[in-house]
Amino acid sequence: MQRRHKDIWALRDVSLHISAGEIFALLGPNGAGKTTLVRILTTLLRPDSGRARVAGWDVVAHPARVRAATGVAGQDSTVDGMLTGFENLSLIARLRGMDRRAARRTAGELLDRFRLAESGDRLVNTYSGGMRRRLDLAASLVGAPPLIILDEPTTGLDPKSRLDTWDAVGELAAGGTTVLLTTQYLEEADRLADRITVIDHGRVVAAGTSDELKATAGSRLVIMVAEDHEVPAAVRAATAAGGYSPSVDRRARRVETAVTDGQSALARALSVLADEGVESLEVGLGRATLDDVFLGLTSRPHPAVTR
Ligand SMILES: Nc1ncnc2c1ncn2[C@@H]1O[C@H](COP(=O)(O)OP(=O)(O)OP(=O)(O)O)[C@@H](O)[C@H]1O
Ligand SMILES: [Mg+2]
Repeated sequence: MQRRHKDIWALRDVSLHISAGEIFALLGPNGAGKTTLVRILTTLLRPDSGRARVAGWDVVAHPARVRAATGVAGQDSTVDGMLTGFENLSLIARLRGMDRRAARRTAGELLDRFRLAESGDRLVNTYSGGMRRRLDLAASLVGAPPLIILDEPTTGLDPKSRLDTWDAVGELAAGGTTVLLTTQYLEEADRLADRITVIDHGRVVAAGTSDELKATAGSRLVIMVAEDHEVPAAVRAATAAGGYSPSVDRRARRVETAVTDGQSALARALSVLADEGVESLEVGLGRATLDDVFLGLTSRPHPAVTR
């Protein structure tokens, strides 16, 4: 599937399959193309080429079917600030075809579930950002659609609300709902997702389970030095060892970096440290983290559009 915005490829040759019942994370930095993909899958935007099907329905040919099968919480809030939380949810329930009583019951249940019962009769304009985000999430669940699409569901949430959201997503999936979520948070993808696809500049740069992605990132080289003035030498050693984006903890005099080939990186780092005359140190190899995968994959500059 492809989609261009003027001279930028928002999506380029993106191809993915999400299985029923799984939690699928689309992970990528700002501008990667996550929202563009979500907008295509929710029929708000057409692909320039390629096709997408949701629950078996083509998004261009059968948008109404796709919308009926999908609950969405967009990156920007779509609830109406001039209505109360309760009114928003019952309105959506009515739009989804419920009768008045069922709509009221659904609205009440969802407000309870997202800790909004006490604020249900207040105008949404008076909600905090996190409350609004929770209401968006609740709104996506109205009518219990088989697929829920969440665009950065926890961006801007406090830690408690984030954990609540993770729990809610986990419960949904346990109940058989398919969840597609986008996120810039590795921890979120790591914790929640059965499978993760990493996109950057509109292209898929990696895909697999969290463990599979970590395995592709190689190892993590850790260098600790005894003296503050030796930290720059440790950074040089890490860089010479082929590490990308080394992280430096000056207080702990510790430098860490992801490396593709652990053994040769270790040898190179030791030789640089010896050349620089740094002696009392600890050098070791550990397992790569999902951050390493992400930084290693997504820190390249934006390619120009070529036809
Ligand atoms: N309507 C538009 N007009 C022009 N360019 C756009 C438009 N929408 C998106 N883009 C561009 O397409 C690219 C992908 O944007 P998109 O919103 O899909 O990214 P994203 O992964 O959702 O990022 P974020 O994490 O910041 O939400 C970006 O370079 C963006 O500037
Ligand atoms: Mg976005």
